[in-house]
Amino acid sequence: MSEGNDILTELDAIRQRAIDALAAVQDENTLQTWKTAHLGRSAAVMQIFSQIGQVDKALRGQVGQKANQVKQALEAALAEKEQAVREAVLARKLVAEKLDVTLPGRKPAYGRLHPATLALEDICQNLMEMGFQIYRSPEVETDENNFELLNIPAYHPARDMWDTFYTTKPGVLLRTHTSPGQIRAMRQVAPKPLRAILPGMSYRYEQTDASHESQFDQVEVIAVGPGITFGDLKGMIEDLAHRMFSPDVHIRLRPSYFPFTEPSAEVDIECFICGGKGCAVCKGGGWLEIGGCGMIHPTVLQNGGYDPSKFSGFAAGLGPERIAMLKYHIEDIRYFWGNDARFLEQF
Ligand code: PHE
Repeated sequence: MSEGNDILTELDAIRQRAIDALAAVQDENTLQTWKTAHLGRSAAVMQIFSQIGQVDKALRGQVGQKANQVKQALEAALAEKEQAVREAVLARKLVAEKLDVTLPGRKPAYGRLHPATLALEDICQNLMEMGFQIYRSPEVETDENNFELLNIPAYHPARDMWDTFYTTKPGVLLRTHTSPGQIRAMRQVAPKPLRAILPGMSYRYEQTDASHESQFDQVEVIAVGPGITFGDLKGMIEDLAHRMFSPDVHIRLRPSYFPFTEPSAEVDIECFICGGKGCAVCKGGGWLEIGGCGMIHPTVLQNGGYDPSKFSGFAAGLGPERIAMLKYHIEDIRYFWGNDARFLEQF
């Protein structure tokens, strides 16, 4: 009898201890610890349930009922505390992670096309509209394609025109111009007529300065067919200049020398800044140089797989960076590949 009464008193104490402990709980971790301690398998109230068989028969019902009440009360208190803790955690978060929605937003950094790419794409787009097809050719080339087959034998003084990066593998180099692509394109298409452009990077072993860089893009233009003339070459360049700059811009072909073309010329366009009157960009001359060109040398045609007695062709090499420099008044070619975002962000 007294044992049963003791248990009833003990249940009140268990309840009080649990409720007191719960009052100190502030966060989800300690709440979990409390739950294990006061409602878990080995909690005091659970021990009572497992001992209930040993209680006096007369009091057993009462003890069972009371134990249940205590358990339910603790569960109810837990539920209430859970809610309170969740709200407190949220309230703390709201204070700690306060957002000032009136602040101006941060602008995402947008990527953009490189100025050399813009000029390259402009040239290619216009030439494609004129019926030229893009061919790809490698930047790592053979000495044979870059020089020999372009009519520049080893030890020929013309090799001085291109200071070259050689690889450790004999006969393999970084192309000094896109012209070796002429050989590749011709060999792929001959003896059918060919009309192609070959855009891409070229490399020269240069002492760099404001107008010399060790890498730069070129767009090689090539056409081979029966009866192609220097007039066709001039017409192509004129048409391209009209499309790229303005319909009334003039071009000029200045006699020059390249071993793989005969005759050869430098391509000048009328200064699009001053219209030919003379200004700082054209250094007073009224003309701007944008590339080289000429009629493909018979030897080169033959190396490409064409019979020079039946076929003729023209070729030109245009400099996109050169055009971009003129167009955007860029005074130092080293800006292009210097990777300075302050420069690149302006385009
Ligand atoms: N490959 C020549 C150069 O770099 C340019 C050129 C191309 C000239 C095609 C004539 C014909 O410098």
